[in-house]
This record gives sequence, structure tokens and C-alpha cells, in this order.
Amino acid sequence: MENKTHLVDEITGHRRMRRNRKADWTRRLVQENRLAVDDLIWPIFLIPGTGIVEPIPAMPGVNRMTVDKAVEAAKEAADLGIPALATFPNIEMELRDETGSNSLEKNNLINLASAAIKKAVPNIGVITDVALDPFTSHGHDGILRGNEIVNDETVEQVARAAVYQADAGADIIAPSEMMDGRIGAIRHALDAAGHQSVGIMSYATKFTSAFYGPYREAISTGGLLKGDKKTYYIDPANGTEAVRDAALDVEEGADMLMVKPGLPYLDICWRLKEAFGLPTFAYQVSGEYAMIKAAAANGWIDGDKVMLETLLAFKRAGCDGILTYFAMDVARHLAKK
Ligand code: PBG
Repeated sequence: MENKTHLVDEITGHRRMRRNRKADWTRRLVQENRLAVDDLIWPIFLIPGTGIVEPIPAMPGVNRMTVDKAVEAAKEAADLGIPALATFPNIEMELRDETGSNSLEKNNLINLASAAIKKAVPNIGVITDVALDPFTSHGHDGILRGNEIVNDETVEQVARAAVYQADAGADIIAPSEMMDGRIGAIRHALDAAGHQSVGIMSYATKFTSAFYGPYREAISTGGLLKGDKKTYYIDPANGTEAVRDAALDVEEGADMLMVKPGLPYLDICWRLKEAFGLPTFAYQVSGEYAMIKAAAANGWIDGDKVMLETLLAFKRAGCDGILTYFAMDVARHLAKK
């Protein structure tokens, strides 16, 4: 017990915020948000071949995997209770071209992986991206004509690619290429092909960001990219524009929304959740992951604690879940508790 001091009592009256913080049990009782394994989506990188797991230098602890290894990883993730994977292919350079035509190949790397994962691990969700950047020789997310990433032609192609992805077993199509009208076009194409139950998670607010660097190394688009993506991604300065862009995706039939990158855009997470009430996800992107890993490797921060704190911050900001390269680490951590 403390001695009474009139000065503090005069200021606080009977109010003491610290009463609820006084013990572990009170803190647990009043905790507003919790991170659960059900909140996690694990992005994985695919390479052609068999039996290969290769590290990505800028993302310590993250690997590129052949389809057989991805199936093993999917099993492990499902055993830990992770609800879904998001797959990203590192397409062979010979297969990349101006229009990203390999995205329309029925048996391309991403579709082979979906089919194999769904066959071996039917209870894990598979989320696939239809952006063209893994398939184009210039690293852009759409078709390049002259100096322009052409909108409508790209939309037609990604809608066709979405149908092949659904045919292969994808449960949710997550288009990240930020063309106008893509959500409606993909919904239309999926329905016409009988894929009414395949959902759409829109990368509704994807910002022009320097946080994507390590990802571009992971799928080998960094060296290819000509110019930048400012003509189709959102300016990091703009919050209201992001809400308007998401509103169009909601109108066009998005089932879920995503904000990308994550931590620097928590205000957007909150605004979208408040405005639309749709299931809302954040993508803690490669640069966010790399920063935490690098600082932890130097002993400058406690990596595990920072990882958990960032993920909880997404929950507090209104997110229903997080795409994170930490998914397996977090799932193991939560399983131990
Ligand atoms: C592009 C795409 C990007 C990411 C996933 N798909 C961004 C980009 O290369 O411009 C980034 C993911 C990450 O950084 O973790 N469609």
C-alpha cells in the first residue's frame, strides 16, 4: 500500500487507469484484442522443379519452394491450424513476355501448385493472385503498350486467368494489379464459368511502396521493372482516395478487402473496416518483414516480441486477419502457449 498523497488524488479523483493493469490476471481480463492462428494467411513462393527449397537472401527464414515442397509446407501449416495460403510464383525467365501470356496457361506454376495443394491438403484455403507481374518481361502488373499499362485489355486477361486459377482449385482470387473494373470483371467471369463459390479478396488499397523490395527479389521482378507503378497503385499520401477506390471494389462484388503494405497504413485498415464492415486484411509485406528480421539479427530489437506486437496492432486497427511471412513462426508460438 502506498501512502496517500493529496496532490495526485486531487488531480485523478477516484480514477486510476493502473488498477486494471495491476496483475497478469487483470490484464488478461481487460485485453481487447487477441491474435489467433485463425487470423493468419501465409504467403509462399513457388519455383519450378522438384525437391528444392531455396532461401531468399533479403527475407531470412523465407524460402522459394517447388510444388512438392509447397504441398509439404501446406500440410504443416494446416496441422498448425493456419486457415489459408497465398501463393506467388517465380516464373522461369524464358516464359515471361510482354503480355504475361503464361498467366493464361492452364498448367502454369501457380495452377499446378493450387491443384497439388488442394488434392493433398483439402482443408487449407488457397488464395491466388492474378496480377501479371510474375509473368511479364517488364515486371509490371499489366500489359505494357508503348509506355502505358493498358487497363481494359489487362482486365480481360486477369479475368480469364482467374477462371483458370479457379479451375485449378483456388478458393479465393486476390487480384493485386489495381486496374479499374477488375473486381466486377473477375466476378462476372467466375460466375459464367460456374465458380460462384470462389471468393474475391481485393487488394483494394495497394500503395506505391518501397516496402515491396524483397518480394521483387523473391520472384525475380526487381531487375526487370522498368519505371515504377505510380500510374496504377495508390499514392502513399492519399487516404480518402484509397477509401473511394475500395468503395468501387465493394460495389463490384469484393467479398473481402486488403490493405497493402500493412503497418504504415493502419489508418487505412481502420477507415475501410469502419466504412464497409467487410472482412478486412492487411498484408505485412516483405520489406516490413525484412526490417524486423534485420534489426533482430543485429540484436537491436527482440524479433519475436516485435513480430507479435505488429500483428496485434493490425487486430486493434480493425483487421480480421493478416497476410504475413511470420505465419508459421506465430502459429508455432501460439501453439506453445
Ligand atoms: C505485385 C505484387 C507486389 C507484392 C505482391 N504482389 C508488389 C510489387 O511487386 O509491386 C508485394 C508483396 C510483398 O512485398 O511482400 N502484384
